[in-house]
Amino acid sequence: ENIHFRLFKNKSLGSDYISKLIHSKIESNNSLSKSTVLGLATGASPKKVYEKLIASHNEQGLSFSKVITFNLDEYYPIEPESKNSYHYYMFENLFKHVDIDPVNIFIPDGTLELDDIPDHCEAFENKIEEFGGVDFQLLGVGSNGHIGFNEPGSEINSKTRLIQLDQRTRSDAAEKFGGLNNTPKYAITMGIQTILKAKKIVCMAWGSSKAEAISQLFNKEITKKWPITFLKEHPQVELVLDEEAASLI
Ligand code: GLP
Repeated sequence: ENIHFRLFKNKSLGSDYISKLIHSKIESNNSLSKSTVLGLATGASPKKVYEKLIASHNEQGLSFSKVITFNLDEYYPIEPESKNSYHYYMFENLFKHVDIDPVNIFIPDGTLELDDIPDHCEAFENKIEEFGGVDFQLLGVGSNGHIGFNEPGSEINSKTRLIQLDQRTRSDAAEKFGGLNNTPKYAITMGIQTILKAKKIVCMAWGSSKAEAISQLFNKEITKKWPITFLKEHPQVELVLDEEAASLI
């Protein structure tokens, strides 16, 4: 009952709405000389949001110089230079086009030795706290209901960690990686608890492949079978949908 949702005719209109929310958040903080902490998502879903934010920067002078970003997740293992890494994605789709300071960019590191991952994850959590927490978390959803890479089975109190990817997630990604055999088996992801600490969460879903996951939010049950249902525990969630993603509500 605390899930507010907005329905748009298509992804472009929905993305326009979200980019305006982010634009005004950054702008009002800029005018107070305050920083803005954004939690960012990757994949196909946020591409148009980033396009529109780049246009805000180019055409309306929106400055990212006081923006701090934390990305939800990264594949493991992966090199940042890999075209399929979320590092590469973020630089190509947003960071290289705006005036963000590289020291303000935080993305889980897919190159670490296994033994070094727990410390890295703890440091990532601590960094978020150091900056006062995430002001605005942008989220997509996987066809299996994952948020970040919190696959089905993830606990509500989970933190940033290494996780084994679900079969469905890997097959959704296989085409990009040139087949299932080349698709990473693991990822480092913010936890459910990490995500739920954000002050505001905007979750977007476009297309019919997301309809089943979205419909789970409108069941009574909160279940780790559908990690997206944990969003019901958060007081400030907005769902932004196109008609196809909303078709099973
Ligand atoms: C990916 C990412 C998620 C993303 C989701 C949906 O694997 N780890 O953060 O929200 O799955 O991806 P897409 O937007 O490409 O459909």
